[in-house]
Amino acid sequence: MAPEEWVNPLRDGRDKRLPRIAGPCSLVIFGVTGDLARKKLMPAIYDLANRGLLPPGFALVGFARRDWAAEDFGKVVHDAVREYSRTPFREEVWAHLSKGLRFVEGTFDNPDSFDKLSSTLEELDRERGTGGNHGFYLAIPPAAFPVVLKQLSEAGLAQAQDGQWRRVVIEKPFGHDLDSARQLNAVVNEVFPEDTVFRIDHYLGKETVQNILALRFANQLFDPIWNSHYVDHIQITMAEDIGLGGRAGYYDGIGAARDVIQNHLLQLLAFTAMEEPISFEPCELQAEKIKVLSATRLAEPLDETTARGQYAGGWQGSQPVVGLLEEDGFAADSTTETFAAITLEVDTRRWAGVPFYLRSGKRLGRRVTEIAVVFKRAPHLPFDQTMTDELGQNALVIRVQPDEGVTMRFGSKVPGSSMEVRDVNMDFSYGLAFTESSPEAYERLILDMLLGEPSLFPVNAEVELSWEILDPVLDYWAAGGAPEPYEAGTWGPPSADEMMRRTGREWRRP
Ligand code: BG6
Repeated sequence: MAPEEWVNPLRDGRDKRLPRIAGPCSLVIFGVTGDLARKKLMPAIYDLANRGLLPPGFALVGFARRDWAAEDFGKVVHDAVREYSRTPFREEVWAHLSKGLRFVEGTFDNPDSFDKLSSTLEELDRERGTGGNHGFYLAIPPAAFPVVLKQLSEAGLAQAQDGQWRRVVIEKPFGHDLDSARQLNAVVNEVFPEDTVFRIDHYLGKETVQNILALRFANQLFDPIWNSHYVDHIQITMAEDIGLGGRAGYYDGIGAARDVIQNHLLQLLAFTAMEEPISFEPCELQAEKIKVLSATRLAEPLDETTARGQYAGGWQGSQPVVGLLEEDGFAADSTTETFAAITLEVDTRRWAGVPFYLRSGKRLGRRVTEIAVVFKRAPHLPFDQTMTDELGQNALVIRVQPDEGVTMRFGSKVPGSSMEVRDVNMDFSYGLAFTESSPEAYERLILDMLLGEPSLFPVNAEVELSWEILDPVLDYWAAGGAPEPYEAGTWGPPSADEMMRRTGREWRRP
């Protein structure tokens, strides 16, 4: 990022509490007919407009192979906004936003389509003052990246004139292993220099994830115990109750580890385990994440430190649900895992000897994402042993979602005449502490991209390091046949519990 383009909100002279508004620009979405565009991107753009964070002449350009007139595209955006936006629908905001909607009918392999796109952007620069600043959002399968990037380049769209910007946003999966990620990064960087590439990991857009940095680096309370002297282990859980109906095209052959551990969960680990950055300049934050990811590796032997499973039929809530192999579009002999658990070690002075357990799965007991820092037991308990039978390990739990907040678990005296001690929870809840509701992750990330603020976007090196960490277990599983079935609505396959039991620990049941 050229230094003059990006003004660090933590350093410039203005009141940091005032939101920053994006400058003149447009956003072009490829894959505008897909679910991501409809459920996340269009609503987030409306929410930004509703919060007054988009420039007056902002334009949203859809590109797709549809025989749509401008009104058809307008209706698609309108319906998506009505159905999925976070903030209330206001006619005047919509009326203003809809004036900046354009649709370009085209196919990825046709240079004429990109010439049309180019003319549309020039027209927007003239008519709406978008100033030659254009972002390209590739909400399309990675297989289509090379052709779209090549066309953007050949149509001269990737190149910014002086004082203007061009940026590209890419969605995961960033490859399916280290080699393919390197190839993909090379293809992207051939057209867009690294400082104009914004890789979306939407977990970094979540308030509760950014709060890990506030919790760790704005307080004195936690840092002294945030290390192997006091921490027994860390559990990072991303559990979902939904199944994979309708997502076979993306998910079959990908599986839980590639879908979310390689990106979301390793980013959560990086935020939890990294050292304090010397500032929140993007390069400083990235340097610390890169450092900690470089020190992270799978614990071995993999047959004891990992587990994977595939959901079978069962009950979700009070509804019967089918197993993965009966879901539409999945091969009857699919070996795609829908649950994955791994054990990681972080070879630094702070973390040596502290296992990090990461797990994620579909069709689990409930939807919850959390980071639990579980502490060692007190070295001595001056109580009769029976008085502490119900005392567990102290824990600090960062509740990423859905019940956003932080819980501290510790022992407390049970009221009465004996000195019985039992676990209690002390809670911070976003909903109670603040009146503002949290913006959606995509609102924050789209705005940051339009502002050219790269802190919350993983760089190339992080993506490659994450694959380097994961590749050995992916190979190990690929050679291992079918994953172990688990009943829908439970907490995963028995081998995941076994994996913990072997080390004398157990998973939390959030
Ligand atoms: C996506 C995964 O990145 O995150 C999905 O591809 C998953 O499989 C989704 O369902 C979960 O996101 P969130 O924000 O609901 O936790």
